[in-house]
Amino acid sequence: MSVLEKVFYSAPGQALAKLAGLPEPVTLRRGASWPSGPLVVAGLDGATLASGTLALLGRTTSEPVLDEPGRQPAPGYGSAIGAVVVDATELRTIDALEGLRAVLRPAVRALEPSGRVVLLARPVDGVDGLEARAVAQAIDGINRTVGKELRRGATANLVQVEPGVTPAALASTLGFLLQGRSAFVDGQTWRVGAAEVPGPAVRPLDELIVVVTGAARGIGAAIARTVASQGAIVVAVDVPAAGQALSAVANEVGGTALQLDITAPGAGARITAHVAARHSGNARIHGVVHNAGITRDKLLVNTDAERWQAVLQVNLAAELRINQTLLDPAVPGGLAEGGRIVAVSSTSGLAGNKGQANYAASKAGVAGLVRALAPEVAGRGITVNAVAPGFIITEMTATIPFVQREIFQRFNSLGQGGRPVDVAETIAWFLDPASAGVTGQVVRVCGQNLVGA
Ligand SMILES: NC(=O)c1ccc[n+]([C@@H]2O[C@H](COP(=O)([O-])OP(=O)(O)OC[C@H]3O[C@@H](n4cnc5c(N)ncnc54)[C@H](O)[C@@H]3O)[C@@H](O)[C@H]2O)c1
Repeated sequence: MSVLEKVFYSAPGQALAKLAGLPEPVTLRRGASWPSGPLVVAGLDGATLASGTLALLGRTTSEPVLDEPGRQPAPGYGSAIGAVVVDATELRTIDALEGLRAVLRPAVRALEPSGRVVLLARPVDGVDGLEARAVAQAIDGINRTVGKELRRGATANLVQVEPGVTPAALASTLGFLLQGRSAFVDGQTWRVGAAEVPGPAVRPLDELIVVVTGAARGIGAAIARTVASQGAIVVAVDVPAAGQALSAVANEVGGTALQLDITAPGAGARITAHVAARHSGNARIHGVVHNAGITRDKLLVNTDAERWQAVLQVNLAAELRINQTLLDPAVPGGLAEGGRIVAVSSTSGLAGNKGQANYAASKAGVAGLVRALAPEVAGRGITVNAVAPGFIITEMTATIPFVQREIFQRFNSLGQGGRPVDVAETIAWFLDPASAGVTGQVVRVCGQNLVGA
């Protein structure tokens, strides 16, 4: 636990939380660990995608216990289960939703701490007919509700699987969700499309170049560490003023440091020149993670042009310009075909947040940019995605007044703030070559933050 986290979980913090009636946070299962109890898989209406994917991941699975209407007491599992994966990709009718309830009721009761509920279904535009489309949306409502009802660090998430997706294309996503790597991703829905992918790897980023902006501290430093642990060669970027901390991170992960203000003219060219100069042959970037960001919080009525500009330039405009350079196939040291662009949005951008009009504009803009760019570069096998962190314990959130901070960080389904590594793990999943079917998605890493849509 970092010094910052120790302060957050300190005695005064806990005492205050108790006074406010807030529950004590449980320790979440993190890292590449699988659930300890059985993985229960239910293929509704003959669906086999989930069982096929788990077989590919080398996992043994168990049969579900089904609730039976009217039976007292309701049937249950003899002991705790680790996860339930419900494959509802063939489910099309309102009546058939009963099958989902019958699987979930006993499973949710039996879920171990940090257990998982994973639902697979079709996206609304992936099925035909009014009823089937309404049902696809209904499953999203079930997921969000189960996320809010689960206890003890367990999470629920829904993957909307496009028609034609193979177990291989789904494997990185299902593995991420079941492992502790997704600890702070809860109540979320995103889609996976069909793609050709390599098989699961222990070090999926081996020898791949990943550029991380804002890498000197906080979430950026965690991203650098996480991707390096998966084999990536890290180019760590941050402002010259953070040069010492930046070098420390770069050295720690065996990468290189590039002192650069990302808003400087020609910032993209500085990155590509660094890659071309430091790496042999025709080295190209596998992934760029646009993590650098700033806040200049004030109510809109007190926000002057300077505060407005600063935030929009760092958090949004710089990203747009850097992408343009990196995406030019003629530029040496640019992004490889089949590469990855990952942006860092924020729940403040998606839901709005009092005192953050400039920040919300920039972070909602990031989400818009990701959705707009993804289809443009899909033909080159390049994916573009964003994480939207909620409350993550870093020096950025340390500036929030103590009482507000104590309340904010518990204001989600997991009752606690996230850690930088939670964001980093989600980014590493986007960067994985096996995640080629995931593009144009904005995934919140917020413990199902309760601030709203
Ligand atoms: N901490 C949270 O709860 C939270 C929540 C949502 C989103 N985010 C986002 O996550 C990202 C990282 O946040 P953090 O909490 O680690 O912040 P942080 O302030 O701890 O770190 C940000 C880093 O970006 C660098 N940076 C800022 N301006 C730069 C520039 N012009 N050029 C190069 N580097 C620059 C800083 O020097 C710093 O090292 C940001 O984009 C932030 O908006 C954070």
